[in-house]
Amino acid sequence: MSVPPRENRYRTAWAGLLRKEHAGGEQRVAGWVHRRRDHGGLIFIDLRDREGILQLVFHPDGAAQAHEAAHRLRAEDVVSATGTLVERDPEAVNPELPSGEVELRVSSFDLLADAETPPFQIDEDEPVGEELRLRFRYLDLRKPQMTEAIRLRHRVVSAIRGHLEARGFLDIETPILTRSTPEGARDYLVPSRTQPGSCYALPQSPQLFKQLLMMSGFERYYQIARCFRDEDLRADRQPEFTQLDMELSFVEEEDVIHTCDRLMRDVLGVGGFDVPEEIERLTYDDALLRYGSDRPDRRIPIEIADLGEVFGASEFKVFSGALASGGVVRGLSAPGEFPRSRFDALTERAQGLGAKGLVWGVVESGTPQGGTGGWRSPVAKFLSEEEIAGMITATGAEEGDAILVVADAAETAAKVLGELRLQIGEPTGGHDLVWIVEFPMFEWNEEARRWDALHHPFTAPSGDLDADPGTWRSRAYDLVMDGSEIGGGSIRINTPEVQGKVFEALGMSPAQAAERFGFLLDALRYGAPPHGGIAFGLDRIVALLGERDSIRDVIAFPKTASGADPLTGAPAPVDARQLRELGLRRN
Ligand code: AMO
Ligand code: AMP
Repeated sequence: MSVPPRENRYRTAWAGLLRKEHAGGEQRVAGWVHRRRDHGGLIFIDLRDREGILQLVFHPDGAAQAHEAAHRLRAEDVVSATGTLVERDPEAVNPELPSGEVELRVSSFDLLADAETPPFQIDEDEPVGEELRLRFRYLDLRKPQMTEAIRLRHRVVSAIRGHLEARGFLDIETPILTRSTPEGARDYLVPSRTQPGSCYALPQSPQLFKQLLMMSGFERYYQIARCFRDEDLRADRQPEFTQLDMELSFVEEEDVIHTCDRLMRDVLGVGGFDVPEEIERLTYDDALLRYGSDRPDRRIPIEIADLGEVFGASEFKVFSGALASGGVVRGLSAPGEFPRSRFDALTERAQGLGAKGLVWGVVESGTPQGGTGGWRSPVAKFLSEEEIAGMITATGAEEGDAILVVADAAETAAKVLGELRLQIGEPTGGHDLVWIVEFPMFEWNEEARRWDALHHPFTAPSGDLDADPGTWRSRAYDLVMDGSEIGGGSIRINTPEVQGKVFEALGMSPAQAAERFGFLLDALRYGAPPHGGIAFGLDRIVALLGERDSIRDVIAFPKTASGADPLTGAPAPVDARQLRELGLRRN
């Protein structure tokens, strides 16, 4: 809802909100010249303010002076105009414009500021290079579709605050100048002047502080928190981004998930997404098996099928060999046109992702499902009729569909088929939400030859903690929307013993653990309640709701893919004197 402006020398109302019911009276509006058109004597100006556009009309007779001056108005000049709001003639109504039934017949106006010709047009949605858009971000943000995205963001934040405050969550700020929190990215460091050689780290998340707040007894915390991660950037990653960060005490998974189900209903409802009362859940193992990813886009109507049973006794060495060595055979079917060249491209893609090859073919037309033969493929001759029929049934393929099969280690097969699924499938409209639960606690880091936490090291493990860490599960949960991870969290460790075991499994010696996380281990000794929480990627939520391709479109002042800000020129070289003060330079 828009609050009307205070009536003053510049305006009486928002230009973009004037409607038929306001016609007949005098109004004053202020804003930018969006567009000017001269029509045989009449001059039309589309005036833009934050609420939208209103057409101003300048008549040569009646207000000759204003009309004369309007000739000189140019795009993006700032003006205030006074006149009578009139209903347009029926044939002049502009159905594209919310204010299209009225126009302001101008009697006088003030030019408040001149604008130079902008480097790109504000009134058109032609593609503009990212660098230029960001360098002139203040102009880019004038575009109505950008204004709309930033306002959607505001509405989302406001729904979050309203919902959580009504449920007793306290908004508590945590430090920006702090020590490293391990969320898996590189830290941004800030050198200390008073302790040369030492640095603060900017937080990758408020993780440890929110846990400490639970140990302080606050019980329900939230914060719209800025996080900093020096990692490779993509469309859905920024070096500084915003989380809705939450933590609760005396809770289990069910409590946090239920709390979030209700929160998401209110928050995503802002974008018109009718979230079910209970968001569906999928185990990590199922997600990988059926979609080849732990952030499945379930709007794509293709599922991966396990073909281990079908090909268990196959004569085809590619399949039987993979199964014999502990691997899997999995496949999927897809409708569409599949000429040879497309299969070749898919094979190349599969190999690029680490597959040894790709078996492909098309279900022949005229063959009943489960019938004999019926699969046109270079390898069909190696497969029995039962195998082909079993594969068609398991993948749910129909006449004319392609079937793609990968035989490999389970992780490779999942990754490859998961990617091919995204490449050939088309998402249906609407949104999809799903919780992923029952994650493994660790993943093996082949390069460093050690276990890494799949979430973070403060996540409570489950399973037999005396067994191989590879078998541990975690009490974590992720929320996935339209194939994008919008949130992740867990029940946390609340005893120093278990925390120590996890640090040990990660290859940290007790001395290293004490050096980095001594404060946490100490705090855990003074009575830490069972607690858990989650953080949502606010930028991602708004981008998905606003149907934007990149989170850059929902951040007022984002960075480029290389982490630069073309507007201010950050990061920028600094004075030798500043470096000397920080102990980073001798002379
Ligand atoms: P995690 O690292 O999964 O968890 O982050 C939570 C959510 O933040 C979003 N996100 C990002 N968004 C934009 N740019 C980035 N670079 C970026 N990185 C992450 C994602 C992600 O789901 N402390 C834990 C949460 C917890 O355990 O409570 C954490 O930060 O949407
Ligand atoms: P080959 O026996 O190596 O000539 O492979 C026969 C067919 O199987 C070729 O089309 C390969 O691309 C394919 N292929 C080979 N290895 C695999 C594999 N691990 N998974 C799926 N297809 C494979």
